[in-house]
Formats: sequence, structure tokens, C-alpha cells
Amino acid sequence: MSTVVHIIGTGTIGEPLISLFTDFREHLGIDEVTFHKRTPLLSDRSKIKHLMARGARLATNKDRVADFEALGLEVSYTAEEALQRATVVIDCTPAGNDNKDAIYSDPELGHVKGFLAQGSAFGFGKPYARGVNEEALDGDADRFLQIVSCNTHNITTLVRTLAREDDGDFSLERASFVCMRRANDVTQPSGFVPAPNVGKHDDELFGTHHARDAYHLFKTLGQELDLFSSAVKLNTQYMHSIWFNLVLRRDTSLEEVRRRFEDSPWVAVTDKSQANLIFSFGRDHGYYGRILSQTVVVVPTLMVRRKREIYGFCFTPQDGNSLLSSVAGALWRIEPDWQSVKRRLEPLSRWVYQEI
Ligand SMILES: NC(=O)c1ccc[n+]([C@@H]2O[C@H](COP(=O)([O-])OP(=O)(O)OC[C@H]3O[C@@H](n4cnc5c(N)ncnc54)[C@H](OP(=O)(O)O)[C@@H]3O)[C@@H](O)[C@H]2O)c1
Repeated sequence: MSTVVHIIGTGTIGEPLISLFTDFREHLGIDEVTFHKRTPLLSDRSKIKHLMARGARLATNKDRVADFEALGLEVSYTAEEALQRATVVIDCTPAGNDNKDAIYSDPELGHVKGFLAQGSAFGFGKPYARGVNEEALDGDADRFLQIVSCNTHNITTLVRTLAREDDGDFSLERASFVCMRRANDVTQPSGFVPAPNVGKHDDELFGTHHARDAYHLFKTLGQELDLFSSAVKLNTQYMHSIWFNLVLRRDTSLEEVRRRFEDSPWVAVTDKSQANLIFSFGRDHGYYGRILSQTVVVVPTLMVRRKREIYGFCFTPQDGNSLLSSVAGALWRIEPDWQSVKRRLEPLSRWVYQEI
């Protein structure tokens, strides 16, 4: 039996994920990488050609095959054939939940070991972030996983790193976050904003979806935490930045906060305070420009007030954290053993930085 990873969508998150799986196919234990591209566009041809040159195989809807071939792109499978061959499917579209209802729930796809969708697919399956809730995942029950959004990765990593005690309990009284989001990704031709654009608090308990999603992720660990978030979109294409405030139920110190961040395998610490410097580090040293760490914490901004209140700023490394969790989650669905996942992920560890 071949192990086939099928990725749906070739956008900001789909494109580097297809590359990751093809470039590291052997180490990851994958025989074939297929991907579904929906719209045949001349402007996307160079990207598709390059993905195919790396070894990935194109699939599309039956009624679009001729259009792709007219662009000179060889279609290996129809969408249905690709799903029939897939061991695991990673949905990288904004329509994960619609696709679950319309396609993935079909009993004819019972052979697929796992379906993963991304941040916007709230409710798709058990929420997952690498390094935060592996112990909550159940190999028999969790065939559907939602890889949480990049900012939810960041928030949950901050909380777990600073508030989790050795017994697994969390000493968190409450936490607040201001997510200062980039307007759009450098790959996206629309959606830029001319000036800071503040967001509504449309969730009466959590403020915005970022804290709500983090709450649900911790709930998988049996923790119901008091989290709140606000969001503002900034007129930048660099990275998201987050201001955070955690209030603990016990005393702490600046030394302990710094030590916890420095000791975490998922946190990169930095002395750089400008997003462009972190972004360009990713461009120069990252995989496809991506930093795969969960968060980049700016050490000089850290502060402890009244012994229990922690303040600071950090950057969300683009979508690198979602990419790492997507690969880890897919490998876990193929073989549900976290030690083996860790071994298979080893070639990617050079992009999970401890310092930037
Ligand atoms: N961008 C980020 O930084 C980021 C970070 C973390 C998580 N995410 C999440 O990742 C998901 C995708 O976001 P993105 O930024 O990568 O989007 P994107 O750049 O707009 O790309 C979306 C892709 O999905 C395809 N698509 C859309 N609907 C489809 C459908 N019904 N069937 C097949 N393909 C379909 C599009 O294909 P065509 O162009 O061929 O039509 C396109 O390739 C979202 O859930 C988002 O929340 C994004």
C-alpha cells in the first residue's frame, strides 16, 4: 500500500505545504504527493509547473482537466481519483467545513486515515497545535483535525509555556491578547488596508475568535481557561504581532519567565523589536521563507508586575507554525505514534529556531 498525501488548495498555505511534503518525502515516509488545484489560471502556471517539477502530481475537477491541459499542465488524476488514492487529505482552502459536509463525510472515503483542515474551519475536527495538545489526540477517534490559525498557535504556546505546571495543571488566572494582524500576506494581491483597522468584539465571552479558538484547544486537555482577545489589522505585509498579558495564580519573576521561554523547544526568543527584521530572517534562513517556530518572543519587552502579571510582545511567524502542525498532524494520522512523528520530522527541525 502506497502512502499518499493529498493537499487541496495551492494558496499561501497549500503551496509551501506541497513543497515540504515533496522535498522531504523520503524522510517523512511518503510515497506520493498529490495536490488539487481548482482554477486553471495562466498566472498560476509557473507555480504549478514548479511544484510538479519537484515531484508533486496535479489533480483537478473532471470538467477542468482540458483547461489545465490547454495550459500545458499534465493532469495526473481527477479530484475523485486523487481522493480514492489518498492516505491522508490536507484541506488548505477557506472552505474546509463545506468540503467536509459535501465530500469528506462520504463513506466511500472510509479508507482515508485522516482529514485535516486549517484555521478558518472551526468545528472541522479536534483542534491541534504542535507542542500544545498532542496528549489530547486519540488515534481511534480523531480522524478529523483542525490545525488552528497561526495566531492561535502563538497564543496557546505562550499560555502553555508560562502557565503549565509539572502536574499538567495550569496556574492561569486569566490572559488577554491584542492581535495586531498584517493586512495580507506578501503572496496575496488583494486585501491590503490603507491604515490601522480596528476589529469588533463579536464574541461576548472571548472578544474575538483568537481567544475562543485557544479556549477550545485547551479544552481538549481538560482546561477551561479565562482568555480574551482583541484584533487590529495593520497596514503591513510583514508579520502579525501580539501584545500579551497573563495573570498567574502564583508568584513568578522575570527570570522564570525568560527561562521558560528560552527552555521551550517551540519558542524562538529575539532581541529584535521590528517585524521586518524577523520577516527577513525568515526570508534568508527559513524554509520557503518560513520560520517554523510557534512564536517569536521579544525578550526586552518582557515585564513582571505585582509578581503575578506578565506582559510582553511577540511576533507570529507568518503561517510557519500552521505548516509544522499540518505536517505533524498528517504524519500522526498515517502512524499514530508521537515518537515516530518526532523522528520523521527531524529534517524540519533546523527551521524550528530557538533564537532569531
Ligand atoms: N494565509 C495564512 O497566513 C494562513 C495561516 C494559517 C492558516 N491559514 C488558513 O489556511 C486556509 C487557507 O488560507 P490561505 O491563506 O492559504 O488561502 P488562499 O491563499 O486564498 O488560497 C486558497 C486556495 O484554496 C483554493 N480553494 C478555495 N476554495 C476551494 C474549493 N472549494 N475547492 C478546492 N480549492 C479551493 C484556491 O484555489 P484556486 O486559486 O485554484 O481557485 C486557493 O488555491 C484558511 O483556512 C486560513 O484560515 C492561513
